[in-house]
Amino acid sequence: MRWLVTGGAGFIGSHFVRTALTEEWTDEVVVLDLLTYAGNLENLRPVERHAGFSFVRGDICDPDVVAKSLVDVDAVFHFAAESHVDRSIESAASFVRTNVVGTQIMLDAARTAKVKRFIHVSTDEVYGSLALDAAERFVETRPVQPTSPYAASKTASDHMVLAAERTHGLDAVVTRCSNNYGPYQFPEKFIPLFVSNAMEGKPLPLYGDGRHVRDWIHVDDHIRGLRLAWERGGSGEVYNLGGECERHNRDIALAIVRAVGADESLIQPVTDRLAHDRRYAIDPQKARAELGFEPGPPIEERMAEIVDWYRENRMWWQRIKAGEYRGYYERMYSGR
Ligand code: NAD
Ligand code: DAU
Repeated sequence: MRWLVTGGAGFIGSHFVRTALTEEWTDEVVVLDLLTYAGNLENLRPVERHAGFSFVRGDICDPDVVAKSLVDVDAVFHFAAESHVDRSIESAASFVRTNVVGTQIMLDAARTAKVKRFIHVSTDEVYGSLALDAAERFVETRPVQPTSPYAASKTASDHMVLAAERTHGLDAVVTRCSNNYGPYQFPEKFIPLFVSNAMEGKPLPLYGDGRHVRDWIHVDDHIRGLRLAWERGGSGEVYNLGGECERHNRDIALAIVRAVGADESLIQPVTDRLAHDRRYAIDPQKARAELGFEPGPPIEERMAEIVDWYRENRMWWQRIKAGEYRGYYERMYSGR
């Protein structure tokens, strides 16, 4: 079997590729990735010499590149996206281009290439925000109510996937996952940013009152859910994947400083994100019942392992933080 993985040089996509090849989920993986600021070939180094691995540097918005990458492909795992909410607030154009137009180009090409299954990797952010004291959690039938430009673009892409399934009979499954953590996560995101800043003795910028809630899932649990969606999911279905691990941001920040051995005073409140969603809470019951999906242990049990990875791979994140990222960090955080 040959799989095409878009965005396979990013955080979650590369975890999927490394695991799929080393655990022999498939014989061949073609990665299609533009290598934007978030893509990094170092993330694929453990499998770069694997006989079944190949890499195409290209844009999912380029129909020719996409068509060539899809030759003899059985399944597409579509990870490629602009993925950071703060960047989408700064400028939404690349989010619409890649997440919406790019997904539409992938869908058209997958249909032409007669791909057997298209797995669309989406997010719980499409559901919008819950109140801290709400009894409900996100279920797949909940109307979508995205707030950030990132979430709005992912919502549009979900609709395009489901429309292609319904209208043209493309076999497609949508998954909506909660907040991932794990190795190789780009240090603009909360956990790797806080872990790496704590290691450098720099402030940990906590947005607003720090009482926002996210549902944390290890990237390894997410990608196992994706494999199950490919294996057992129904075409045209949406599956929520989550860690059943809701935590306040402040509690995660405290767990990080403890695990790093840094001082709590590094945690500093800063101006809140615009339209910051208060709480995400995934109900993974459908995935559990229909796919056999089970979230792994809670984040506290994996915090030491996460911190160890970032400690042992300092070069990886220091190189990123020393590059283009520095300008972004200054724009985003100075005077906040
Ligand atoms: P990431 O930002 O780490 O990686 C994105 C990858 O896509 C990068 O390698 C980048 O180079 C590539 N890419 C971007 N634009 C491209 C284009 N036009 N053509 C080809 N490649 C392009 O993202 P991530 O955190 O690994 O997220 C992967 C997917 O999972 C995204 O679709 C995201 O919406 C979804 N998701 C993420 C999370 C999370 O917590 N990170 C949770 C749920 C869903
Ligand atoms: O829920 C799934 C989504 O999770 C994915 O679809 C997105 O791709 C991914 O980026 C993530 O979105 P969030 O906005 O929840 O993740 P982020 O890591 O940016 O922030 C997590 C929480 O931490 C959020 O409440 C904002 C807060 N935060 C974040 C940063 C970067 C801070 O307090 N300070 C920060 O500096």
